[in-house]
Amino acid sequence: MPDLRDRSIEIIQRYQAQSGAYVACPNFAPYRFCWLRDGTFTAYAMDRAGHHDSARRFYLWVDSVLRREARRVDRIADLLACGQAPDHRDMPPTRYRLDGVPEEDKWPNFQLDGYGTWLWGLAEHVAMTGDTTLLEQVRKSVDLTIRYLSLCWKMPNYDCWEEFGDRLHPATLACLYGGLAAAGRLLACGGAAAQVVGVSEVPKTPRTACTAHTGPALCAVESSRCADVAEAVEAAEAIHATQATCATCAVDVAWAAHVDRAVHAAPSSYAGHAAHAARALGAPGASNDPNASGIAGLAESIREYILDHGVAQGRFVKSLGNPSIDASLLWLAVPFAVVEPSDPLMLSTVEELERRLYHSGVHRYPEDTYYGGGEWPLLACWLGWYYCRAGRPASAAPILDWVERCANERGELPEQVSDHVNDPAFLPVWHDRWGPVATPLLWSHAMYLVLLDELAKAHVEATHASV
Ligand code: BGC
Repeated sequence: MPDLRDRSIEIIQRYQAQSGAYVACPNFAPYRFCWLRDGTFTAYAMDRAGHHDSARRFYLWVDSVLRREARRVDRIADLLACGQAPDHRDMPPTRYRLDGVPEEDKWPNFQLDGYGTWLWGLAEHVAMTGDTTLLEQVRKSVDLTIRYLSLCWKMPNYDCWEEFGDRLHPATLACLYGGLAAAGRLLACGGAAAQVVGVSEVPKTPRTACTAHTGPALCAVESSRCADVAEAVEAAEAIHATQATCATCAVDVAWAAHVDRAVHAAPSSYAGHAAHAARALGAPGASNDPNASGIAGLAESIREYILDHGVAQGRFVKSLGNPSIDASLLWLAVPFAVVEPSDPLMLSTVEELERRLYHSGVHRYPEDTYYGGGEWPLLACWLGWYYCRAGRPASAAPILDWVERCANERGELPEQVSDHVNDPAFLPVWHDRWGPVATPLLWSHAMYLVLLDELAKAHVEATHASV
């Protein structure tokens, strides 16, 4: 059997439709659709694995689908303007048929998280590839999504497990924050900084004065891992100032030394800081989009709202008003960066998650009874991803082993594993209703690829640190 990395890529490629949509699971009737959530994380994994074309096709598919939602969003705006509350059926759906047509059924469709997530994924794609043409192509859908989220973000909607539609969920709000913040940064710099940070695009030597400036800016951001843009820019300027008296070649040398570190840094979470730095340092094309600051402001309001309402007993809660724990709360740190992985709120959240949800894999939440509430490989990978970002890659290694053992003889990963379930009585209930657990689940393969790449990066960083 080929190794699980190759097999995961093969499965994702095989089940990407001609249209560009990724099916959630090809062999499980209720999942023969494309979700914005599963699809975006699958595209992200393909980007990280170097298959940018697959990701690009997905984002073009999302664009083709969302353009058709303009009238729905207009109607939501009209209803709200007249003081009327839109109905769940007025909302753009969470999943589409692979040909892009919404399925008119009773699925709990009002889920906002995927709309934030796709904006984030798109920004990651542009950061990794420097493909600003794509950004122009999908711009209408980006604007539509921002408008939709700005109208509806405070409305209760179904969570990422498609449950509890009468509540607000910190993990969903984190997706909105992450997506809007990324979109704001992307529009603020017109993609200029994205080009600078794109891993494959980083030039080996500075080509212009601007890259000479931006390179140190990136390194400063990376080395200090600072969340504060002003600090990053200041650090970048300081580096440049020391070089200002030197000949251009001195800048070149410094750049080359710094960029090496910058390239090995996880580019994605720092892309935004670099964007600001690039703008402040006058990168060409780093023009201000007039909407960008409004979008950044909205993102910031969502972040503040999460911190004000989504916390109890010193940690994040499953939903507003429900203090339980949920594995999707990992998203608040990775990848959506509402807080740093080392933030005390996050540390307490992860402690509770480890205590109540982490066995060999990770359960969704303690009360989950879907197929008995088993352990999810994709969530185990998420915990491993968090560990890597929190500077604990050794804790992620056993997770990777466990996930590899979850693959069947065809190298396919399931949605969940039933060896250790919350409530065994519900296993036959779901089995009778929908058949065996969904396998292969593309999202599981995607998160495996992400964890594999994270661990490889952590290894490179550790090697660099030791020389
Ligand atoms: C999960 C969703 C997922 C969908 C398709 C559902 O069971 O709760 O998060 O998007 O399956 O994979």
